[in-house]
Amino acid sequence: MAVLLSTKAAAVGDWEAALTALDPALVLHRHPFAGDPSEIEAVVMWTGHDLADLRRYPNLRLVVSMGAGVDHLLKPPGPPPGVPVARLVDTRLTQAMSEWVLLNVLRFHRQDPEYRAQQAARIWHELPAPDTARRRIGILGLGALGADAARKLVALGFPVSGWSRRPKAIEGVATYAGQDLAIMLRQTDILVCLLPLTPATAGLINKDLLWSLPRGAYLLNAARGAHMSAPCVLRALDRGQLAGAALDVFDPEPLPADSPFWTHPKVVLTPHAASVTIPSSVAPQVIENLRRARSGESLLNLVDPATGY
Ligand SMILES: NC(=O)c1ccc[n+]([C@@H]2O[C@H](COP(=O)([O-])OP(=O)(O)OC[C@H]3O[C@@H](n4cnc5c(N)ncnc54)[C@H](OP(=O)(O)O)[C@@H]3O)[C@@H](O)[C@H]2O)c1
Repeated sequence: MAVLLSTKAAAVGDWEAALTALDPALVLHRHPFAGDPSEIEAVVMWTGHDLADLRRYPNLRLVVSMGAGVDHLLKPPGPPPGVPVARLVDTRLTQAMSEWVLLNVLRFHRQDPEYRAQQAARIWHELPAPDTARRRIGILGLGALGADAARKLVALGFPVSGWSRRPKAIEGVATYAGQDLAIMLRQTDILVCLLPLTPATAGLINKDLLWSLPRGAYLLNAARGAHMSAPCVLRALDRGQLAGAALDVFDPEPLPADSPFWTHPKVVLTPHAASVTIPSSVAPQVIENLRRARSGESLLNLVDPATGY
């Protein structure tokens, strides 16, 4: 039996090395696979894989996303019915995302765009000192990534709130669930999106949401581009409702060369690089899930197809 790897050509070698370092007997194939389809028992995949292809493998017992998100493999036609899907939860992935969030929260909190503009104009002028205790951070999504970022922001002294689907308790964080989002938004100076992309969260960052924030708020989105309406974000920036945005994700990706986000003076952007999977870090959980799938045990980081994450 074999595992099929499906990712960018530049990354597949690292995956092969990481997995075979832990299990030298593991048989790996690269997508596209021209051999006997009955040989494939698991597919470990990232975006770009034609989901209809998954139906070619009669002995498939596990599909693993190469990232924390699974929206790429739950869109129609989705994985074959009954085949479990696992995602990645990983210390390095979480650490990297929190770094991206802290970088951008501090960038806006410490008026870095204003000071850079002053530097370019050789202006020696001290802006009013920012007050950490009064800069309210609101996090959409309190999962593996959102909860870690929340704790680290609390440690820096920011007042932090967070929103999840089900009620949650995180020390030092004011938590909101479901319909209570509007309450959190009214008290959020920097909004951070770390939600999974599901039918319930797609397009959430729209005109209504953006204009529920205090005027001059900031937006950080490192979740998925389809969480936000690009025209609404641009309009909110242009009208001063948003004072700035740090964006790592777009719809579509790569961001087209003519997108106004590239040159917008209030936008800092990164090319979906906030937190990148390191194969050697996640290989142990992939190998463990393969073992569990073979022995019929419950899987780590199993995705619920009903909620989409
Ligand atoms: N840009 C990058 O480089 C990058 C890297 C990694 C991940 N990501 C993105 O980050 C996302 C989050 O990852 P994660 O590991 O933190 O996911 P996770 O552990 O599954 O957490 C998801 C959080 O979102 C909440 N949520 C889901 N649907 C909701 C809804 N309808 N209303 C309110 N809250 C909702 C969940 O609520 P409950 O707690 O109630 O379940 C949970 O708190 C991924 O799906 C991926 O899209 C981006």
